[in-house]
Amino acid sequence: MSSPRTSDVLVIGGGIIGLVTAWRAAQRGFATAVVDPAPGGGAAQVAAGMLAAVTELHHGEQTLLGLNLASARRYPEFAAELTELTGHDLGYRRCGTLAVALDSDDRAHLRELHALQQQSGLESEWLSGRECRRLEPLLAPGVRGGLRVDGDHQIDPRRLTGALVAACERVGVTFHRVRAERLSVVGERAAGVVTRDGSALDAGQVVLAGGSLSGRLAGVPQDVLPPVRPVKGQVLRLTVPPRYAPFLSRTVRAVVRGSQVYLVPRENGELVVGATSEELGWDTTVTAGGVYGLLRDAHELVPGITELPLTETRAGLRPGSPDNAPLLGPTELAGLLLATGHYRNGVLLTPVTGDAMAHALATGELPDEARPFTPRRFGATALSEQPA
Ligand code: GLY
Repeated sequence: MSSPRTSDVLVIGGGIIGLVTAWRAAQRGFATAVVDPAPGGGAAQVAAGMLAAVTELHHGEQTLLGLNLASARRYPEFAAELTELTGHDLGYRRCGTLAVALDSDDRAHLRELHALQQQSGLESEWLSGRECRRLEPLLAPGVRGGLRVDGDHQIDPRRLTGALVAACERVGVTFHRVRAERLSVVGERAAGVVTRDGSALDAGQVVLAGGSLSGRLAGVPQDVLPPVRPVKGQVLRLTVPPRYAPFLSRTVRAVVRGSQVYLVPRENGELVVGATSEELGWDTTVTAGGVYGLLRDAHELVPGITELPLTETRAGLRPGSPDNAPLLGPTELAGLLLATGHYRNGVLLTPVTGDAMAHALATGELPDEARPFTPRRFGATALSEQPA
C-alpha cells in the first residue's frame, strides 16, 4: 500500500526538531507526515548532547534562558515517556557539569559568568582549583578554579533521535523518504510540498523544520523565509577503555584562549570532545586544524586524554539565527509554521519545542513560554520598526 500523500500536518525535516514536532502532533490526533530523505539525520548526529542551560548562559540571552530552563525541567519526564513508549535507552545522564579556568583571563570570564548566573537566580558554586581536582582527579594541575553546576546534564543525541523515529512510527507518522524541493502555495496559503521526484504532498499545515537548510526551501515567500545560517561545529569521539574508567564523572568544559571546549563522558565509555564554531557556509570538512585545536585544548584540561583511542571525527551544521534563539510557530503565510534556528540548543530545546509546536498546530497560537520566539520578530514589519 502506498503511503498517504495528504496529511493534516506535514513536517519538512526529520532531525530531532522535526521528529519531536511530528510525534507530538500525531499524539494530538493530527494525521502527520515527515518528508526527509534520511529521517534521523542532521546536526543531532554530531552534537554532544549537553543540556547546558546554566553553563551556556550569555549576556543578553535571558529570554532564551527562560525557554532553555523550561525545557531542561521537562527532560526527566520527556525521557521517561520516550523510553516507556519505545524501549530505547536514551543515555540521559544526570551528571552535572564543571566549567573550569586555566589562566587568569579564563578565570575572569568564568567569574563574570558566575555573576550573571547569580543575577539570574541560577544555581552554581565557585570552586578553587583544588576543589575542582577533588571532584575530577584527572584535571590538569594548572586548573585555577571552576564553577560546579549540578543541574546541567546530558543525553546521547543519537539515541534520542533513534527513539524519536521509533516514537513517530508507534503513533502512525508517515515517512516520505525524499527531499522536499519546493513549498506549494495555493491561494496565499501553504498547501504542501513538491518533492525531488516531482510528486506532490498535500497538507492542511506545513512545519518547516529543516535545521540549517530551512532558509533554502524554494517557494517560501522572501519575507517568511527564516533567517537561518549554518554554523559549523567539528566534534571528536574518543573511547575510554575500561582500565581508565571512570575517566570523568561529569561534563567538563572551559573557554581556552577564547575557544569553547567541552568533554562529555557517556556511561558506555564514549567521550565526546567539542566543538569548533565556524562560519563557513555549507562546508562540513573535518580539518587538521579543527581536530588539533580541540585536542590541544582538551589536553590542557585533562592531559590523560592523549592515551585514549580517537574513534570518530565529524562536523555538523548548527542552525544559527540572528539572535541565537529558535523561530517557533505560525508565520505570516497561512498554513506555514517554523521550528528552526535552535543554534547551540537544539537537543536541550527538543521537549519544549515539541510541546510548543503541537500547541501552535492545535490552536494557532504559541503557548506563553514560547511566544517571544515567534518568527514574526524578524518579519518585514518588525525589522522596519527597529531604530536605524
Ligand atoms: N551546545 C554546544 C555546541 O553547540 O557546541
